Amino acid sequence: MKSNSSKDEIILAIESSCDDTSAAVLRNGLLLSNVIASQSVHEEYGGVVPELASRAHQQNILPVVDAALRRAGVERSELSAIAYTRGPGLLGSLLVGTSFAKGLALGLGIPLVDVNHLHGHVLSHFIREKEDDEVPESPYLALLISGGNSQIVLVRSDSDMEILGRTIDDAAGEAFDKCAKVMGLPYPGGPHIDRLAAEGNDKAFKFAKPHIPGLDYSFSGLKTSFLYTVRDGLKQSPTFIEDNLADLAASIQRAIIETLMAKLELAVKQTGVKAVAIGGGVSANSGVREAVADFCRRRGLRAWIPERRFTTDNAAMVGIAGAFKFRRGEFGNIDAPPFARLTV
Ligand code: KG4
Repeated sequence: MKSNSSKDEIILAIESSCDDTSAAVLRNGLLLSNVIASQSVHEEYGGVVPELASRAHQQNILPVVDAALRRAGVERSELSAIAYTRGPGLLGSLLVGTSFAKGLALGLGIPLVDVNHLHGHVLSHFIREKEDDEVPESPYLALLISGGNSQIVLVRSDSDMEILGRTIDDAAGEAFDKCAKVMGLPYPGGPHIDRLAAEGNDKAFKFAKPHIPGLDYSFSGLKTSFLYTVRDGLKQSPTFIEDNLADLAASIQRAIIETLMAKLELAVKQTGVKAVAIGGGVSANSGVREAVADFCRRRGLRAWIPERRFTTDNAAMVGIAGAFKFRRGEFGNIDAPPFARLTV
């Protein structure tokens, strides 16, 4: 076995917070591999089934970690540290990655670095594959939008983040997924709405917008308004959904984006930042990406739009967040249990 005699910083990262098992390897902050095993088992249930997710992680974790090391051309003996997602997420899912990371770190006698999954999403713009890949300059605003979270975060540095606003009910991804479900689309519905919206008229339907003070979000009213529109439409015509699928998708996508952008605009005004980054599964949405890019262009701000493969859950983002902590000497405790709920 090779040993890490070159003193390179080589980090193996493990992510298992929801329904993606992922492992990544980074050398001196550069990504060498990022392997993701997604779980299709949940599709027929219309949402993630926690018990099934834990079992699938158990099956996937060893082959995923092996593949990440193999693709990176790195031996276990070369590793400097193991970074892992400690929370937030589904407890059973987190337990699989946490236990695996702890066992491996103990066995190899190397440090363990626990990572907040949300920090990973926020710091995903620091994932570099080449030395000259650019990264954001702090301070900047991160719009973190996923299936479980919707937050506006002021990032002052990789260790200093402040949540300026968050959802008081559903996350943006939940709004996409729940409206998709009403239309009979498969889970997760966000990508289906995105695809259909490209062919629809986004002004065909109007939905009641939330009026929440400050920088917080609310999406549950929008979902209810969508449900009522569909219910009333079905009373007029039993084929209302099929006849209006693309227009419904485009209109709800527009309403979600307008809601997201209104608070983002307020946050930019309040903070005076010069850059905006997006992250989380919903940042894969074509309309969101366009809206943020356009918003920044018009105001002379720098927009950080992640590659789609780094928007949904992945270990590369855990690896880079872990690398920052490793360099600060912030190591995890072997006794630290995973957390289902954590904030930035
Ligand atoms: O970050 P993520 O993979 O998981 C967590 O929530 O942690 O985000 C998943 C969410 C789902 O709600 C999914 O529907 C949404 O991201 N999503 C999208 C798109 N791709 C994924 N929503 C809208 N448009 C998309 N293209």
